[in-house]
Amino acid sequence: MKVILKNQSIEKIACDILIVSIFQSSKNHGHSIDLLDTALENLLTKVIKEENFQGKVGSTLVIRTNGLISAKKIIIVGLGERKDFGPEALRKACASSIRCAQKENGKTVSTILHGLDLEKIKPDFTAQIISEVSLLATYKFDKYKSKEKNEPKKEIQTLIISETHKTLAKNIETGIKRGTLIAEAQKLARDLVTEPAIVSTPTKLANVARHVARENNLKIKVLDRKDCEKLGMGAFLAVAQGSEEPPKFIEIKYIPKNKPKKHIAIVGKGVTFDSGGLSLKPASSMETMKDDMSGAAAVIATMSTMKELQPNVAITMIVAATENMPSGTAYRPGDVIRAMNGKTIEILNTDAEGRVTLADAMSYVTRQKPDEIIDLATLTGACVVALGDTACGVMTNNQKLADKIIEAGNEAGERMWQLPLYEEDREKIKSDIADMINTGSKGKSGAQNGAVFIEKYVDKIPWVHIDIAGPSWLDKEDVYGPKGPTGVGVRTLVNYLTNYV
Ligand code: BES
Ligand code: MG
Ligand code: ZN
Repeated sequence: MKVILKNQSIEKIACDILIVSIFQSSKNHGHSIDLLDTALENLLTKVIKEENFQGKVGSTLVIRTNGLISAKKIIIVGLGERKDFGPEALRKACASSIRCAQKENGKTVSTILHGLDLEKIKPDFTAQIISEVSLLATYKFDKYKSKEKNEPKKEIQTLIISETHKTLAKNIETGIKRGTLIAEAQKLARDLVTEPAIVSTPTKLANVARHVARENNLKIKVLDRKDCEKLGMGAFLAVAQGSEEPPKFIEIKYIPKNKPKKHIAIVGKGVTFDSGGLSLKPASSMETMKDDMSGAAAVIATMSTMKELQPNVAITMIVAATENMPSGTAYRPGDVIRAMNGKTIEILNTDAEGRVTLADAMSYVTRQKPDEIIDLATLTGACVVALGDTACGVMTNNQKLADKIIEAGNEAGERMWQLPLYEEDREKIKSDIADMINTGSKGKSGAQNGAVFIEKYVDKIPWVHIDIAGPSWLDKEDVYGPKGPTGVGVRTLVNYLTNYV
């Protein structure tokens, strides 16, 4: 699907389906809908009344236009009560109307901003949301499905936003561009996670990262096992030693043309398959463990927007990509390993591997002394227990930075909820024979146990850890897309890097 702008009034646009929106319990639907209604010989108001259409947020009503205007059908979508209108309501209305248009087999669909409350959400942000949600809500991953012959493909080709007002049109154009860019990046993240682990290997991630770097004129470095050995990455390599898939340590750099305001490191957990290792997971917990590189997918996808966005910050992206497998060469519970920064780790559970890979990712990147570090990781089942799949868990050593990232995330439609790190929590990872254990207090504050471990490797640099284990995978569809991998984190990172630094 492509989203485009047309400087043409809505009743004249040639399309299959026209989407218009109305507020709940409002008598006046605005000038454009009145014009449309006139063109339709009052069909709109008649059907709304007859069907007793309330305009509840996300509810839809399909009307055939009987050749009275060029669109064959109209979808009326409810925006909910005007007083409750905001990005969330707009997203819901967008998702359900575009899915409805898809079901109705529209190829060309058009929509207008008139009738929306542009005081509450600025026109460019409105257009951004419409583009983002429309592209993401209709996302499908069907490359492995056999196609039935002659099966009609229900796919929308073009979504037209129509606007005749010149300055408004300009703002809308900006929003469409940004929304499309972000949605395409998030779709890349989804694709990478949805691909089975036999396809999305560390090598594949490195190749995709190379491609992203080339397309965006970014510097890239990919270290293999030998390079990592030389650097003393005993932690990352311990996790990797059980797998036949070669590990890859990936670094991408974006440097702006002008003097950057800050240098920010974004780090993604890149465990391409987490079997648990010798501390093997039960079968049902392993089913979705190809998604254990969702953090990596999000940061790589974020870098794919750099050519267009050109934020005024220097960015270093790090992914330590490996599988976590059980084998005769696998690391064992009880092993003591040494990370690149010299700290030693007593492994108590090989399934707490994410933090171990991140120990070296953090040791590596802190040497560059970035101003801030943000990591995204499908780190703990405990975070899923605490917050479900509706919110990411945020943990930090710097409240100011966390506040900004939480705000950037929530604004972008990715919920962030903070969990505290107390001094007592830091005590829980003490080891009898090494500098720390890789687990913590059993059955208690599991998400924080992971965070205080990573904290040991960030060298007091302002850092925010985002545990995305819940929202990275949905069991049923939501506003932004189907069940399965979500590509969470891309919208938060892009919003933060471009609007909050
Ligand atoms: N990749 C998992 C965390 C996870 C769980 C992600 C569910 C997505 C959904 C992680 O490596 C893990 O296994 N963590 C362990 C840690 C424990 C052994 C201390 C966990 O959460 O059980
Ligand atoms: Mg694990
Ligand atoms: Zn894991």
